[in-house]
Amino acid sequence: MTDSLTEPLVSTSARTIGVFDSGFGGLTVLRALVDHMPRARFAFIGDTARLPYGSKSRRTIARYAVESTQFLVREQGAEFLVIACNTASALALDAIQDAVPVPVLGVIEPGAEAARAASRSNDVLVIATDATVQSHAYQTACNHRGLRALEKACPLLVPLVEEGWTNHPVTEQVIRIYLDELNATAAAEGLNPDTLVLGCTHYPLLRPLIERAVPAGMRVIDSAESAAAAAAAMINGRAAAVEPGNRAVDTQIRCFATDSVEKFERLGSRFLGRPVGQVELVDLGG
Ligand code: DGL
Repeated sequence: MTDSLTEPLVSTSARTIGVFDSGFGGLTVLRALVDHMPRARFAFIGDTARLPYGSKSRRTIARYAVESTQFLVREQGAEFLVIACNTASALALDAIQDAVPVPVLGVIEPGAEAARAASRSNDVLVIATDATVQSHAYQTACNHRGLRALEKACPLLVPLVEEGWTNHPVTEQVIRIYLDELNATAAAEGLNPDTLVLGCTHYPLLRPLIERAVPAGMRVIDSAESAAAAAAAMINGRAAAVEPGNRAVDTQIRCFATDSVEKFERLGSRFLGRPVGQVELVDLGG
């Protein structure tokens, strides 16, 4: 069996890494991947025509996610896939792995691993979409690491970010209401949480507001960084995994979307931390 942390999984020359999200929020994960592997080629697809996934059933999420990831492998030659979407990682990872002949990494396990590394009390909070919370994927991954996890769906946050209201008083108020409810439930259940996991691609954009709303001393983590580190380790082997901060390299990134190309181009750079350039429209069917 391959030791995924020491042996390269794909050819190190001209490799293409496919990154999939239901929308363009997953560009936060791509951003972290570029920091770790600036010399890789990236193909990103956001299934913007069918966003949000977070309110849909497992069956539908799996069908949509498989179509997008097959596009990355078959049409773009991706040799490794990162599922940046928490909802697809929670509900469709097995279906994606069955459908494509390349290694696939989701964000749930790296997110839970980051929570384990951050928490001292071993009690953590997770905020995510409805579908992710109902799957209890984060709770399961945290439990496997000896953590207790309390999850809460925050369905209003994705549309607020999509609207561009990442620094808006309404968004701040909504965050406070959700987190106050979550902390009250944690207290009622006798938990002593010291870590909050941002279990959704869009929430890193709200990080400043979230950090203002959490109790003092609570660590806020997102899975983008730990997923990128895990992907780099799997692809390059541990020794060659990290090339952080190398912005001098002109990383090749192609972005595709199934709809709303203009909005993707307009808002995507906030998520990616650099201009997204021209986004190509793809029709994956209904
Ligand atoms: N990408 C999704 C996630 O990370 C959020 C947006 C959606 O609901 O599709 O869970």
